[in-house]
Amino acid sequence: QLGLKTETLGHTIHFFEEVDSTQRIAAKLAYEGAPEGTLVVAEEQKAGRGRLDRKWFSPQGTGIWMSLILRPPIPPQQAPQLTLLVAVAISQAIQEVTGLVPDIKWPNDILLHGKKCVGILTELQADPDRVRSVIVGIGINVNQTGAQFPEDIRAIATSLAMEKGERIKRAPLIQEILLRIERLYKQYLAHGFRPVKLLWEGYAVSIGKPVTARTLGGAIRGIARGITDDGLLILEDEHHQLHYIHSADIQL
Ligand code: ATP
Ligand code: BTN
Repeated sequence: QLGLKTETLGHTIHFFEEVDSTQRIAAKLAYEGAPEGTLVVAEEQKAGRGRLDRKWFSPQGTGIWMSLILRPPIPPQQAPQLTLLVAVAISQAIQEVTGLVPDIKWPNDILLHGKKCVGILTELQADPDRVRSVIVGIGINVNQTGAQFPEDIRAIATSLAMEKGERIKRAPLIQEILLRIERLYKQYLAHGFRPVKLLWEGYAVSIGKPVTARTLGGAIRGIARGITDDGLLILEDEHHQLHYIHSADIQL
């Protein structure tokens, strides 16, 4: 129903008017053996989840709220690479469809004019040595107006329509995103992370700049030097010590 141009991604779509979280449903389907490319899409989420235990505001009809199941033949420590891959693919798709040029804030926030319009949440089902499935949750603010955001989110968030100044059709954007993910994912499986890393660095705002990483263990301030081949952020502190960050919130 989306008129997809992909070979595998999105060829099974579970569409819901209202769910708690597409992420929870996709995780259940993956556990039950759903094939790679299975997509769960909802018009509205009542309990959308963000990273670091946060809520994700997902009102009816204004955004893209979806979760994609991938089954890459990789060890679990390489899974963060897929988050970066998806961030690149979505950035490319937004650029293609709207003409807007997004920035990526490590690991997976996509920004327009410094405000967040996309969040990506990747969750794993894995054995110690191999990934069984990766659930890629994608939340895109597409057609909200400023007034439609709750007050606490308004200051830091934006939508594609707010930046573009006109409504954006969601179906063609989903098509383009799946096509870009599929293309990059094939390239990644054939040639590894390097080509993705180069593209990612092209969109990254933080590299070479001072940032604060808020991890569960505390805050680390330093210059963002780049990402490792596994997708970790490299921070250099004032003593020229390097820190490798797995999971954190980055403040520019
Ligand atoms: P807590 O009070 O539990 O520490 P919090 O203040 O970070 O959490 P939550 O409500 O748990 O708030 O999480 C919301 C976070 O995610 C905020 O940073 C919010 O700005 C952001 N957020 C939620 N939905 C969206 C959205 N649709 N677009 C952009 N940012 C969003
Ligand atoms: C973030 O914190 O930046 C990640 C937000 C991820 C939101 C998406 S919306 C579709 C999927 N279902 C969820 O409950 N969360 C993700």
